[in-house]
Amino acid sequence: MSNPSVSKPLKLGIAGLGTVGGGVVRLLQANANAVTHKAGRPIEIVAISAKSKAKDRGIDLSHIQWVDDPMDLVSNPKIDVVVELIGGANGIAYDLVCAALKAHKGVVTANKALIALHGDELAKLAEEKNVPLLFEAAVAGGIPVIKTIKEALTPDRLKRIGGILNGTCNYILTAMAKTGCAFNDILKETQELGYAEADPSTDIDGFDAAHKLAILASLGFGHTIHFKDVFVEGIRGINPDDLHYAKELGYTIKLIGIAQQHQDNRIELRVHPALLPCDTPLARVDGVTNAVFTEGEFSGRLMLEGAGAGEGPTSTAVSADIIDIARGSTIPMWGTDWKELTPATVVSRNEFVKAYYIRLMVQDKPGVVADIATILKEHNVSLRSLLQHGATNDTDDTPIVPIILVTHKTKEESLLRALQAIQKLPVITEKHIMLRIEEA
Ligand code: HSE
Repeated sequence: MSNPSVSKPLKLGIAGLGTVGGGVVRLLQANANAVTHKAGRPIEIVAISAKSKAKDRGIDLSHIQWVDDPMDLVSNPKIDVVVELIGGANGIAYDLVCAALKAHKGVVTANKALIALHGDELAKLAEEKNVPLLFEAAVAGGIPVIKTIKEALTPDRLKRIGGILNGTCNYILTAMAKTGCAFNDILKETQELGYAEADPSTDIDGFDAAHKLAILASLGFGHTIHFKDVFVEGIRGINPDDLHYAKELGYTIKLIGIAQQHQDNRIELRVHPALLPCDTPLARVDGVTNAVFTEGEFSGRLMLEGAGAGEGPTSTAVSADIIDIARGSTIPMWGTDWKELTPATVVSRNEFVKAYYIRLMVQDKPGVVADIATILKEHNVSLRSLLQHGATNDTDDTPIVPIILVTHKTKEESLLRALQAIQKLPVITEKHIMLRIEEA
């Protein structure tokens, strides 16, 4: 066997030196000997490009060339692999990855938006140029789910993939459930702790989770997916009262992403807050933790849980991809030749069939429940349970009280029509809350 430390090194150019980029440099320097042995050859960082050269990141960059323009990593003939850790679906990250592949350089990226929006085009380019493009860190940070689906589960046909794919939302909902505080107060605290971005929209409006879900579905089902086909609803509308009533009913509320293959091969792709039964594994995943599950015909159900972000976990995922390239791994980007992918036919929101939690705020008068029940009956929506806490004092004013309805499984279109009619009843005092229930 040859001595790994004298074999030809794999030479990297790293673009982006934020939390993840800094972590990759730190990890590869700290574990250089072990990495060399596991990779079968040394891994050498030849050049780095980032916004500020002067910033002290607590890492030794003295032996590494600094370039201001990341494109200089592509034109450097010594570099074998470009590690893109800049982020963003378009702009410099997209240009850099395309240019690197065209220049026959391998690419490792943690960029979920880039892969979710341009993955098919990039896979085609990578295969045409016969170079690797790996993206383990793009989905759920330190959880090795891409490798699990692409390698460990590759012989199986997956039917369902999903989980808790956004740590910021999970932290906020966990804190709201524990403290009873309002969404905006917890969001502010989350930003102060550094979990949520100054502009938190990508996380709390569900788009970050949707990027990850689109990637998982492409990989797991072998489809090309248009990101706009993912149904996305965020967590801004979640109220501590709903977490409280959900708990009373035996549920907790989480932002989940679910990709499901139907019998007719169409797929359901949805990201939204959902009520999960408290005794299910996903319901117990709290704080910033992520979890991803798969359900396969042969492999059954599997769940991986861990850190979805952060320097250590994410840089481990990026470095594992780098080691795979050093070892000469040739698995295609989507686990199969891109020509084998078929366009996804996506199930529309109206066709979702689920059980639902509904909160109505009503005037506490005789006949209100009967009126609501009549409308539900007219739309073929069957009730499973009803929770009403009457006003505590009998006063002359008509009190406003919540009515919580839980339906049996029903078509979303029928429920939406029923809710439109219910909303017009004069006793309804504010817009209803409607949340899907995910039984497993
Ligand atoms: N912002 C993401 C989260 C991590 O909160 O989970 C990176 O995708």
